[in-house]
Amino acid sequence: MPATAGPDKPQRMSKQTQITRKTVKDIAKAKGGTPLVMLTAYDAPMAELMDPHVDMLLVGDSLGMVVHGLPSTVGVTMEMMILHGQAVMRGSEQAFVVVDMPFGSYETSEDQAFLNAVRIMKETGCQAVKIESGAYAAKQISHLVERGIPVMGHVGLRPQAINVDGGFRAKGRTETEREIVINEARAADRAGAFAIVIEGVAEDLAAEITAEVSCPTIGIGASASCDGQVLVAQDMLGLFDWAPKFVRRYADLRAETESAVKAYADDVRSRKFPGKAETYSLRKP
Ligand code: KIV
Repeated sequence: MPATAGPDKPQRMSKQTQITRKTVKDIAKAKGGTPLVMLTAYDAPMAELMDPHVDMLLVGDSLGMVVHGLPSTVGVTMEMMILHGQAVMRGSEQAFVVVDMPFGSYETSEDQAFLNAVRIMKETGCQAVKIESGAYAAKQISHLVERGIPVMGHVGLRPQAINVDGGFRAKGRTETEREIVINEARAADRAGAFAIVIEGVAEDLAAEITAEVSCPTIGIGASASCDGQVLVAQDMLGLFDWAPKFVRRYADLRAETESAVKAYADDVRSRKFPGKAETYSLRKP
């Protein structure tokens, strides 16, 4: 694993203390240019594989569903986000790493948001946090940014709000909903978000938001009219039977994994594994 900053790898005053990762400035500069590439990552080996190819890694609270088997992201805790954030920081060296603030960790007040964001930043070494930003969250965003914490907003389909929305539904398909999503994006932008994830909206709405806000927009199910794209890694790698309409599968790891596991089980049962090559023998004197 590459050496990175973070709680388990204290760095001394040396060349290593120089910033080698992408910064908020690099992300901001990309507005309107070559699309930004972001993927979710939850562990060190995957972060290491993805790192050379992406601009940003998102330790998304989707980990509750795709790693821990929860029915939604609502049950995700600070401890889960921190543990996975540390792993992703250990595995990567150049990507800008964003860690999601989990449901219940920022909504109550600016102070609550700040104290939890500080904990995430200090204990993981990540570069920024992400907040699912209904318009109300603008207060939290500006409070954090003014105090040195870069914040990514997240508008449109907000998975932490599924219990009021009645499920995972595309957003902005009526005039009223459209206004709500545009206002959420405006509020996050004005509050100083360095980028905004737009999830599950029609192309014209994503294009309108992207043209209006000053920071880059990162789409997920929001068309190519955004300044960048993010996908949940497990979805695009084909680890599940089902994926949302907006996912393109770049691999079929579910089938590959199932056939590897079956082949292993068959080999063990028929005593074909382990073979000579996988077995230690007495050293010759
Ligand atoms: O948690 C997550 O993975 C996310 C993406 C869907 C953007 O927020």
